[in-house]
Amino acid sequence: MDFMPADTTSHPARFVTFEGGEGVGKSTQVRRLVARLGASGIPAVRTREPGGTPKAEAIRSFLLQGRSESWGPGGEAVLFAAARLDHVNTLIAPALAAGKWVVCDRFADSTRAYQGVGGGLDETLIDGLETLALNGHVPDLTFVLDMDPDLAFERVRERAIADGLSLLGDRFEKEDLDFHRRLRDSFLDIAARNPERCVVLSADTGEDALADAIWQAVVARYPHIPGDGA
Ligand code: TYD
Repeated sequence: MDFMPADTTSHPARFVTFEGGEGVGKSTQVRRLVARLGASGIPAVRTREPGGTPKAEAIRSFLLQGRSESWGPGGEAVLFAAARLDHVNTLIAPALAAGKWVVCDRFADSTRAYQGVGGGLDETLIDGLETLALNGHVPDLTFVLDMDPDLAFERVRERAIADGLSLLGDRFEKEDLDFHRRLRDSFLDIAARNPERCVVLSADTGEDALADAIWQAVVARYPHIPGDGA
């Protein structure tokens, strides 16, 4: 079949984020969406948080190795925000300006859920850090991948066993189940408060079905994208 690249000149590039708890399959879906956009002629950049740039990746190792744990949720939120500031200014904003879509594995909603609701950090502090770090670059579309944390834990466990890894993951994966239940509620609450930006999808439908649901939501929202980018 003839391949017609999508018209990216008259349609602005979009900033898409994926959020949700541990083990819901965000990274796989980010990869699949970027590939599908590419197959539809839409240039897209895949990135992640914390990280995405050399400076932000340095902050990521500090955070995920647990070296910041004693700083508390406030200190950690500042570090996540500093990493985000660099990520937005040196990768996300320039890519969007160059007409490339940006698809990011976690973004500011994770700070609101993990350090805010999970860690008990005051929401007005989160608001201030978010204003600083985003510099106006609010995502156009956020997928909240939702799953019962008990089920998600089982998936993380199975994956770790299959990969021969330790069952104890990074700093945040070690938190207890109650923490992860509060996280889930927090992501759902963020979605309810931002219905124009967020799409909640059940993440226990299987990888292919979830990828299709994500693609349908993208095409429904941005109809200039050819619908068959499989
Ligand atoms: P990662 O290995 O990327 O986990 P996941 O596959 O679940 O995304 O590690 C990122 C961890 O950092 C994850 O546990 C969530 C946490 N995090 C925060 O606590 N606050 C934040 O703002 C962000 C972006 C991530």
